[in-house]
Amino acid sequence: MITFSKIVDTQTFLYQQKTNGLKIGFVPTMGALHEGHLELMRRAKQENDILVASIFVNPIQFNNKEDLKKYPRNLNRDAELLKSVGCDVLFAPDTKEMYPEGQISKSYDFGDIEHVMEGSSRPGHFNGVGVVVSRLFEICIPHNAYFGEKDFQQLAIIKKLVDIENTRVNIVPCAIVREADGLAMSSRNVRLTDHEREIAPFIYQTLKMAKSSKDTLCPKKMKAFVLENFIDKTEFNVEYFEIADDTNLQPVKQWNEEVGSLGFIAVKLGKVRLIDNIRII
Ligand code: PAJ
Repeated sequence: MITFSKIVDTQTFLYQQKTNGLKIGFVPTMGALHEGHLELMRRAKQENDILVASIFVNPIQFNNKEDLKKYPRNLNRDAELLKSVGCDVLFAPDTKEMYPEGQISKSYDFGDIEHVMEGSSRPGHFNGVGVVVSRLFEICIPHNAYFGEKDFQQLAIIKKLVDIENTRVNIVPCAIVREADGLAMSSRNVRLTDHEREIAPFIYQTLKMAKSSKDTLCPKKMKAFVLENFIDKTEFNVEYFEIADDTNLQPVKQWNEEVGSLGFIAVKLGKVRLIDNIRII
């Protein structure tokens, strides 16, 4: 595996590979890699000639300074994991390299999808994601780029970004990878205390219960059911539970077998904010 920290080196190397006719698969990450990330890597490796991963904790997508400061970082460990899945190129720039002129003021209009759920809970977050992913695509010019459905709304934003910028990158959605007890894998899970980690699977258990109640509960009642389920679980602070359309992310008011619908949840468990989702239709 070759590791680059400079944009120009990465561009030169990848340009060469492309002129040799090789297909490039790209997996952008913020590091603190886990099985969820590695599944994306394995798939990208299988479907392309060259696997490029990036690790960059993107400051402009954090609207919470504490979260940015506490974000786990361990480049050496991550590099070993990447080697173990056959990664060919790791691009790991620092903030100065990515944003030489300081904060980037580019502002996207992603439409309705950016105003709900993560968009309304984390102002500026998706714009920051858009700016960095657009820049990473410019640098790596991949054929295929892999994103997890764990961040389903982010995936919708990336599809929109590619549309807006007319970028010729094929976006490949990948299923959520979970721990054996159902907790969705996340770099933030390591920040849970032992007790919090023990009770965290309750989030996915509730999502599964909600899904199985679809034939008896309308979306409004399902929402109420989920929120009630957390009432006596004082460790959990539910930020939102929404049932939304899988293309425009707008709330679903009644079930329609033609409209793909998912349940989305954001919960604070202690100091850690966790998100998860489940397909209902
Ligand atoms: P990060 O949180 O590191 O995630 C990198 C990729 O891994 C994302 O596409 C995310 O959806 C996917 N992923 C994380 N946990 C997953 C899981 N349990 N199952 C499946 N996929 C999972 O998302 C980001 O970084 C950043 O916003 C980024 C796109 C890199 C831009 O900075």
